[in-house]
Amino acid sequence: MDILSLVRPSVLNLKPYASAKDEFKDFKQDLIYLDANENPYENGWNRYPDPNQMDLKRKISKIKGISEKNILIGNGSDEILDMIFRVFCEPKDDNVLINKPTFGMYKVLASINNVLCKEVLLTVDFELDTTCILNTVDDKTKLIFVCAPNNPTGNLFKKEDILNLINNLNAMIVIDEAYIDFSDTPSWLNEVKNHNNLIVTQTLSKAYGMAGLRLGICYANEEVIEILKKIKMPYNVNILSQIKAISCLDHEAKIKNKIALIIENKNILKKKLEKITFVKKIYKSDTNFLLIKVDNANNRYKQLLSNGIVVRNRTNEPLCKNCLRITVGTEIEINELIKIFKKLDK
Ligand SMILES: Cc1ncc(COP(=O)(O)O)c(C=O)c1O
Repeated sequence: MDILSLVRPSVLNLKPYASAKDEFKDFKQDLIYLDANENPYENGWNRYPDPNQMDLKRKISKIKGISEKNILIGNGSDEILDMIFRVFCEPKDDNVLINKPTFGMYKVLASINNVLCKEVLLTVDFELDTTCILNTVDDKTKLIFVCAPNNPTGNLFKKEDILNLINNLNAMIVIDEAYIDFSDTPSWLNEVKNHNNLIVTQTLSKAYGMAGLRLGICYANEEVIEILKKIKMPYNVNILSQIKAISCLDHEAKIKNKIALIIENKNILKKKLEKITFVKKIYKSDTNFLLIKVDNANNRYKQLLSNGIVVRNRTNEPLCKNCLRITVGTEIEINELIKIFKKLDK
């Protein structure tokens, strides 16, 4: 696919800002740096961070088994999603497509960027309605967002449905894999070498336990990464986040153990919820949360809150009437939640 034909002309023609650290890249050498108007007195963060986050990329590249050239790092995946809008969507002219119910930021980012957001409902069993998607796109549709596993429904989509979109649409397919590390199903990131209209986003905020550091990852064909880099803010990932993330990622086994524990806790939570009579349905989840249908979500939400527990009320989302989304907490938090559910169930 001719990716450049999808990019906004102003971005194609853009001459990116060259920071001091872009112009002189060999900044690990012991030289006297008088090029960036930094404060010269060392305190650990008086210097600008590496704009290309090379050490962090190397680490991620090794863990995820993909070249550094296919990686872009953002201040959370929210920043990456916004960058994707700004690269591909001409305000007031282009449009994007989302599959409802889904992560709310796609629609918000469309509004911020003044881009029309077309919405297609998932099927009743939370699958992609590919026929409707293919009928809804037009030649101004630049991005199709596929959140897999999906927030708030918790499920993955059929591989053949996603491939159908990738192969048949003249648009970028953005697969948001914020929750993929909780799933056994392989990521789509290995497919970016086969499809240049595929962008995969992931985050260190969920399974990797670093939400406060704000680190999102984008995987795409090198050509796409290079275009995204053109509009990236020079120092979008601060020095402390880069250092801390690298040291956390050094302990991959510890992270993997925590992921396994969260999955185990999810299964325990599910079993306990099955015994509560006002819980009508527990949806299959490839994530660290459970979407449950209750008798009356508004009431149950308020009751939980007055007992000191905050969940997400999703009852106003399409296909989610009377649904609550519950993040899997620690064993103690799960026991507390269940204690209150049992009390309310009397
Ligand atoms: C599906 C999905 N994508 C992206 C994000 C944002 O992630 P980040 O913390 O990397 O900005 C979230 C956060 O809840 C999410 O649910």
